[in-house]
Amino acid sequence: MNNDLVKSALSKVIYPGFQKDIVAFGFVDNIEIDGSNVTVEITVTSSANEVEEQLRNDINLELSRIGVERVFIKVNKPAVPRETSSKGKNIAPAVKNFVMVSSGKGGVGKSTTSVNLAIALTMSGKKVGLLDADVYGPNIPRMLGVENVRPEVIGNRVKPIEAYGIEMISMGSLMGSGEALLWRGSLIIKTIQQFLTDITWSALDVLIIDMPPGTGDAQLTLAQSVPVTAGVTVTTPQTVALDDAERSLTMFKKLHIPIAGIVENMSGFICPETGKEYDIFGKGTGLNLANKFNTFMLAEIPIEPSIRTGGDTGKPITYHQPNSETAKRYIKSAERLWEEIEKINALGVVSNDMIQPTTGTGSACSTSSAKSHSHSNNNSCGCH
Ligand SMILES: Nc1ncnc2c1ncn2[C@@H]1O[C@H](COP(=O)(O)OP(=O)(O)OP(=O)(O)O)[C@@H](O)[C@H]1O
Ligand SMILES: [Mg+2]
Repeated sequence: MNNDLVKSALSKVIYPGFQKDIVAFGFVDNIEIDGSNVTVEITVTSSANEVEEQLRNDINLELSRIGVERVFIKVNKPAVPRETSSKGKNIAPAVKNFVMVSSGKGGVGKSTTSVNLAIALTMSGKKVGLLDADVYGPNIPRMLGVENVRPEVIGNRVKPIEAYGIEMISMGSLMGSGEALLWRGSLIIKTIQQFLTDITWSALDVLIIDMPPGTGDAQLTLAQSVPVTAGVTVTTPQTVALDDAERSLTMFKKLHIPIAGIVENMSGFICPETGKEYDIFGKGTGLNLANKFNTFMLAEIPIEPSIRTGGDTGKPITYHQPNSETAKRYIKSAERLWEEIEKINALGVVSNDMIQPTTGTGSACSTSSAKSHSHSNNNSCGCH
């Protein structure tokens, strides 16, 4: 398999409604070949779903004819024109981009992913913030080695803690480790809002937000409070986790959050002695999901003991072992994430206008009058 072979197969794919093919039109942005798997990225001029569907079918057909086993197709297309140009609500306007890191299930590696993506983005020169929105089980302070650091309070606002060049705030830093609050929904809503308004964030290029597991009040409140630029779903290869990952991706859709990609964590095992990689849970299953939701696999991160020890000791692998295979994958996925953020911004699709509640403050989730445009459920919050 090589680039020319793939390109000549793609030149048999005619753009629907025209006589020219997608290569001649210059719609093929990128071809990546990995053995008999091929990733194709195209940018088209039509926002119609039928055009996308036809192209996917034709590309699959032509590539299977030349022996490609797995085809991954990413289609970029213009946003469907909106009724409003408003970006909706933003209670943290100093921040340029917000990335929500989510999963349907606990313990799959959201916090680990958030930390390492934040570090990789910082290493590439971005000004990065990290918000630990997991109020039930805040782990970010420990993962960044600042679990005993208390933030400085200036007037009635709080300065984020600096670690590895990242600005970070967490309930763990405000309360102390090991303490626990019994959270009511209304308290979670208020806390998430205060994390955005009462913390003196700098003019950040990007705020990475580590979410609690699942699809509840924290996710909805965040999406209603700031226009989230991109969602990242973390999953593990096991089927159960994948069902949960689908819930997380569906939540992004319902909240009108553009999906930047999937991180498949605990994907294979790298033996520390030999550096050899073993497939334990079955890796690569996230790819089907990525195809289904027209998004990328941002990374396949193996199980590696130094990821866990790095987390437990506050020494993230991407910073402390930047030449390790895992660090390289995190760095590559951060590059891809940034490219996606730029693309999403260029398409102008970021807005939380559609999910604003129309009732007064105090309830972020009105079932009677929120003007959610989600189609398939009666609960207008659209996230349960
Ligand atoms: N790829 C990996 N290899 C080895 N250990 C890992 C890997 N990813 C995560 N871990 C470890 O697994 C545990 C759970 O990870 P993490 O806390 O990031 O998950 P989470 O999804 O944020 O969990 P929660 O839902 O509880 O917030 C941590 O101890 C972490 O160090
Ligand atoms: Mg976590």
